Amino acid sequence: MTEITVLGSINVDNTYAIPRIPLPGETIHVDGISSAAGGKGANQAVAAQRSGAQVHFIGSVGDDRNGELMRQTMEKEGIDLTHVTINEMVETGSAKILLDEKGQNSILVYAGANGVVNPEQALVAEDVIAKSDYIIAQFETPIVTTIEAFKIAKKHGVVTILNPAPAQKISDELLALTDIITPNEIESSAITGLKVETEADMKQNAAYFTAKGVKATLITLGEKGVYYACGREEGFVKAYKVKAVDTTGAGDTFIGALSSVLKPDLSNLKAAIDYGQRASSITVQGKGAMPSIPTKAKITAVYGK
Ligand code: RIB
Ligand code: NA
Repeated sequence: MTEITVLGSINVDNTYAIPRIPLPGETIHVDGISSAAGGKGANQAVAAQRSGAQVHFIGSVGDDRNGELMRQTMEKEGIDLTHVTINEMVETGSAKILLDEKGQNSILVYAGANGVVNPEQALVAEDVIAKSDYIIAQFETPIVTTIEAFKIAKKHGVVTILNPAPAQKISDELLALTDIITPNEIESSAITGLKVETEADMKQNAAYFTAKGVKATLITLGEKGVYYACGREEGFVKAYKVKAVDTTGAGDTFIGALSSVLKPDLSNLKAAIDYGQRASSITVQGKGAMPSIPTKAKITAVYGK
């Protein structure tokens, strides 16, 4: 069984259904408000666990109702929460999501307890990192902690996966510790300073990452699929055409599901990307982040083996 450590965020999402994203200075009516479990880290963990991996989580929640709710939700999934701390000083992370009629979203994220996940927590979790096949991190928890965790992972030969979201410029030190990077176009551009429009652009972005020590670059392109470059292998894996209701958590589903089937030598990378795309195509068809993430059984039922 694949074992994965996810270092990342845990949020409660509040989604506002609106006809379209308002312009600056504009007031518009909300059609409905709903709430669901989310957070990039937690979504990725759930996606991996529902695809058959054993996930260990490193993170933090506040000492409040949302924190209690999120811990219960993740525990029910079978995720190991030994390294999730309960912080009395800050509240559980949260996100406000504007969801338009096309299923597109704009997200405001409040770090709360996610913002205080410190390097000490990674050191304490060395045993679970060491026994994992992969460690996955995003940018909703402090980067110093990710660097510490990735150093530990490297020491034990664990493959490191960085989902550089939300977009941010980062140090070469972190890139040197990253085996697989999974940005979307905006996130890739924020790091490389290069544009990401044509296939030639994507090649250049991948070359930038390779030069910094990254082994595989996966640029997620939404409906256009995924561009990947790994050693001499490169190309596109197409997305599945579906009607999107709510794309929240689709990128997280892709990463979590992909990691649960990927071989650590990356020899089945293309097939793993395809599996991740199948998973995320199901996520976009349901409302809310975590509630719409499919199990392996569901993915197989829709797409076959
Ligand atoms: O990637 C989607 C997630 O981003 C949401 O669940 C929200 O919590 C934000 O972290
Ligand atoms: Na969804």
